[in-house]
Amino acid sequence: MKKIVDLIIEELTPAFEACGYDRQYIRVTRSNRPDLCEYQCNGAMAAAKAYKKKPIEIAGEVADRAKASRMFSEIGAVAPGFINIRLDPAYLSEYVSAVFADGKYGLETAGRPETIIVDYGGANVAKPLHVGHLRSAVIGESMKRIGRYMGHHVIGDVHLGDWGLQMGLIIEELRDRQPDLPYFDEDFEGEFPSEPPFTISELEEIYPAASEKSKKDEAFRERAQQATLKLQSGYAPFRAVWDHIMSVSLADLKKNYANLNVSFDLWKGESDAQAYIPGLIADLTDKGLAYESEGALVVDIAKEGDAKEYPPCIVRKSDGAALYATSDLATLIEREKDFSPDRYIYVVDKRQELHFIQVFRVAKKAGIVREETPMAFLGFGTMNSKDGGPFKTRDGGVMRLETLMQEIVKEVYKKIEEKQKVPEAERQRTAEIIGLAALKYGDLSNQATKDYVFDIDRFISFEGNTGPHIQYTIVRIKSILDKYGPGAAAGEILPACSGTEKELQLKICGFSEAVESAFFETAPHKICQYMAAVADAFNDFYQENKILAEEDKERQAGWIRLITLAKDILNTCMDLLGMDSPEHM
Ligand code: ARG
Repeated sequence: MKKIVDLIIEELTPAFEACGYDRQYIRVTRSNRPDLCEYQCNGAMAAAKAYKKKPIEIAGEVADRAKASRMFSEIGAVAPGFINIRLDPAYLSEYVSAVFADGKYGLETAGRPETIIVDYGGANVAKPLHVGHLRSAVIGESMKRIGRYMGHHVIGDVHLGDWGLQMGLIIEELRDRQPDLPYFDEDFEGEFPSEPPFTISELEEIYPAASEKSKKDEAFRERAQQATLKLQSGYAPFRAVWDHIMSVSLADLKKNYANLNVSFDLWKGESDAQAYIPGLIADLTDKGLAYESEGALVVDIAKEGDAKEYPPCIVRKSDGAALYATSDLATLIEREKDFSPDRYIYVVDKRQELHFIQVFRVAKKAGIVREETPMAFLGFGTMNSKDGGPFKTRDGGVMRLETLMQEIVKEVYKKIEEKQKVPEAERQRTAEIIGLAALKYGDLSNQATKDYVFDIDRFISFEGNTGPHIQYTIVRIKSILDKYGPGAAAGEILPACSGTEKELQLKICGFSEAVESAFFETAPHKICQYMAAVADAFNDFYQENKILAEEDKERQAGWIRLITLAKDILNTCMDLLGMDSPEHM
């Protein structure tokens, strides 16, 4: 379906042209002053320069011409040259009826579906998933879902950090603890055990212990580095330990992500890219892009017109080791080979921006990725605690995601226990659903690039701009619908007879625009803003109209359809952001 703003533009075009003005000047936006108008056309301001007339004159002429249209109940020019518009209630309700009947609430899906890779999650294997990875998972998951809803073929890749020094640290720590394991016997020739030599809780303890040790014990650190190199060059016993580390921590990671309602199509990692590195280096060298600088191999990325100076991208260190950038470039080779994507979206901490500028530029320069393929870096800010610094536990450590979730769920549980609205058997599950929405909405309602403060009391509140508030609104609508019973499902949305009803209808019409801008601007917070606006509009409408007590049965049935539509749209938005809503609250 066409968007209302576009339909208004179409409607105004003949009026503009009849008055002698070019249609290219017409601009229509939703007004943010509902007391003055619903939509605003500011085309006269732009046309004024071209036609050397006062904007108000142009606006007046056009508004007079357009008055006859049945689309508008009010159209008039106001100083300095805006055209203020209100929609005719019958026109609006017809449009909303069409939205109600449309499977995607008026959204037109992509005419040419793209293959899009979203690189998010980025957990580091064998290190606990901490709050630093939370944002990537939450934001990336929503971008994946929004892209799919738009009709694209979106592939989510977790891109694990599974090839770094942590592996050598674990191997050497394991050697110190269990020197008799066959992996450490150079003469061992049998088959390595299929059972891992550790459980997930042991593994979670081994890594921090090894990491601590390496800070104090230089010989140990040296051994860990050697072990990492040995693993990377394919030494079979270490590869066998690595396989164990991977299987044990992947099972745990999958569980953690599932608890966040986050899932990936690809569980690839840095290790998968290694096979492409020799070819990459040869290619960069053959093309004359890579050159030696202080022993390292580098590629220049500076471009004419750059506002700042960009250092060259190092693709090989002087000791011959590959780097983070090398592995990201090699990963692109694999992705191009497997999927030839039309677009990339990377959801990573914004402190890694320079790294991605370097990687993207080298990829294009070397022809790994086509020049016209958009590569978006969605860099996000830090989650801070109330006292200002980055989020920590009470004892100052980095908080694990699991612990954080448990705390939120515990708080929500207390709250719903007090309220006594949720049957006891549902309480735990309900607390989990609400807790997750509290956490995700608390994150997603902020512009991703900005830092935000983790404020559990605010996030779990049923009032204000929170996830639970949206859920509460959905639950409230469901309860009205349950009380009303079946019988109003099919039929038209009726012309609004009050301001709050019309406002709700107008908000409903904004769905497609909200989803599109969230997608094109890689800005999931636009969907939060939209949901909050729909929820507010519903709540105002509900305050003013006693739906269940309404005596005019036809009007009542129209309202039931309208709030059903509001609920369905809110639920769809929740789903786009990876959240659910409970049955009771
Ligand atoms: N593992 C990395 C980290 O924890 C994030 C990976 C992001 N994705 C990428 N393609 N580099 O910082």
